[in-house]
Amino acid sequence: MPLDRRHFLLQSGSAAAVVALFGQSHAAPVTGRGRTATAGHALGFTAVPASLRDAVAIPAEYEWQLLYAWGTPTGIAGPMPAFAPNAGNTADEQALQAGMHHDGMHFFPLSVPDRALLVMNHEYTDEQLLHADGIKEWTAEKVRKSLHAMGVSVIEIRRTARGWQQVRPSPFARRIHGNTPMRIAGPAAGTPLMRTAADPAGDQVFGTFANCAMGVTPWGTYLTCEENFHGYFGGPKEAAKDMTDAQRRYGTVPGSQWVEYWRFEERFDLSRHPNEPHRFGWVVEIDPFEPGAAPIKRTALGRKRQESATCTTSKDGRAVVYMGDDARFEYIYKFVSKDSIVAVTDAPQAPANSRLLDEGTLYVARFDPDGRGQWLELTHGRNGLDASSGFADQAEVLIHARLAGDIVGGTKMDRPEWIAVHPHSREVYVTLTNNSQRGDAGKPAPDAANPRANNLFGGILRWREDGNDAASTGFAWDHFALASDPAQAGSGARYPAADADMFGSPDGLHFDSGGLLWIQTDMSGQVIGKPAYASLGNNQMLCADPATGRIKRFLTGPNGSEITGCVVTPDRRTLFVNIQHPGEARDDGNGTPVSAWPDGTTPGSARPRSATLAIRRRDGGIVGT
Ligand code: FEO
Ligand code: CA
Ligand code: CA
Repeated sequence: MPLDRRHFLLQSGSAAAVVALFGQSHAAPVTGRGRTATAGHALGFTAVPASLRDAVAIPAEYEWQLLYAWGTPTGIAGPMPAFAPNAGNTADEQALQAGMHHDGMHFFPLSVPDRALLVMNHEYTDEQLLHADGIKEWTAEKVRKSLHAMGVSVIEIRRTARGWQQVRPSPFARRIHGNTPMRIAGPAAGTPLMRTAADPAGDQVFGTFANCAMGVTPWGTYLTCEENFHGYFGGPKEAAKDMTDAQRRYGTVPGSQWVEYWRFEERFDLSRHPNEPHRFGWVVEIDPFEPGAAPIKRTALGRKRQESATCTTSKDGRAVVYMGDDARFEYIYKFVSKDSIVAVTDAPQAPANSRLLDEGTLYVARFDPDGRGQWLELTHGRNGLDASSGFADQAEVLIHARLAGDIVGGTKMDRPEWIAVHPHSREVYVTLTNNSQRGDAGKPAPDAANPRANNLFGGILRWREDGNDAASTGFAWDHFALASDPAQAGSGARYPAADADMFGSPDGLHFDSGGLLWIQTDMSGQVIGKPAYASLGNNQMLCADPATGRIKRFLTGPNGSEITGCVVTPDRRTLFVNIQHPGEARDDGNGTPVSAWPDGTTPGSARPRSATLAIRRRDGGIVGT
């Protein structure tokens, strides 16, 4: 295992490996804005037109292959249950199969050539598709199956003459889900708001769910982010009146639940266990190279509807994590560790890094109208965060990070989603997906960073830290793109190049090692193909070259799907992409999912399934060229 981790770090040019090799504390050379390793060839592929077809479309020079769909067996030994096309698999079987609704994902090469681990999130469940008879009636078994269909998959894959294949069984294979035991660490662990009847110590919890985007640490672990956890907690409607402002701010209000877990598993009943939701909404660290290691919730990074946790290093070698809180008018955060990353040369040094995310400083971003910005510290006893503003200690600041962000004056954003750091310039890009309530009565007005009222299409904002040091407290920012269809009157679209392909509701964001930016979209199934959005087609993936500002459409997805989760291999020959929730939208007439992808060709002919694709150039060349 240590050998595999070291191999991964070397392959990925990670800070921890570079420190080990050269004794330097700052890995990436700073070469100015937007240098690409493939100048002259970047974006050489044939652009794909916007499409409303129920299919995956990519440039003719490329091919895609289905790798890992919902229900695919996943385990360390047989027998592994096959996927039942009628959704007849039990809850226990689902715990040994790929989850639903694939999202954030990363590729960890192993030390054996052409072998790697692929680690991915399963964000949420479509209960109608998950159960053979839908959810007219909830049962305890359905609650368990639903919990087992979220979380994370770790699979081993190998490259063969016929493309990438899952290695099955594999000693690394693992499903982490909504009932997996895990640890809570950092300043909030064990504090009063984290204690429950089942866990009086407040430092152990069952499960992670609502796992959206992700991050990868410089020491080779995977970070999964708990986003819309609130939808799984519920309770009797009449209990709503007893909820605190903090509970309302996080959306954990009885009667507003998405699922009926609370009727069958009492920890989800807010009226009986008000502290249980405090144990969700965190960044969770998973060591994919150690299948026996329990995942750890890192409370020092703050609680929110955690979208992403993108890691980089400061000039003096500390870990820096950028995070978005995906809800209307919520914040962008940064965590800077107290200690520096220790070079991972062998196993005994790894434990030092395993505590890095437990101690440090959390900040929230303020974007000023002059193109400058400030990171505002969320530390108890500073910036007005004390008992007089309702925070007894640092644990409460972290558990209610949103409320702390209000006190210090962070900028309320248009739904921050993924964050990506340019591998050479170190500029930081964030997708702001949309905000239909910007400028509404009683809501925040447009501001410099979020300039459009009724922002239906979102955009991409970027910043550069002062001194190009990720630990700086000041930065300069601008917009990379304001998305929309420029042909629409008053669209406010602003793309970095005149010939850019248009898009809407950007969400997934990934820089490959050459500096190409992969952009994925998540327009809601209710609006796809409808007025204002019709010209954008189905959800899509584009490739941008920040050096030139060009943006080209690379992929369009099946009906009702979102494109999310993206990683380019270190050799840049394969691109892994997740197709999430094909057929999420239903036919207005008969309620049939609008897609049968990937197993059927016409709606209704098969149960649609989220799935991972492996995409390569037919000539074996670099993807994105
Ligand atoms: Fe899970 Fe905000 O997308
Ligand atoms: Ca997302
Ligand atoms: Ca999304």
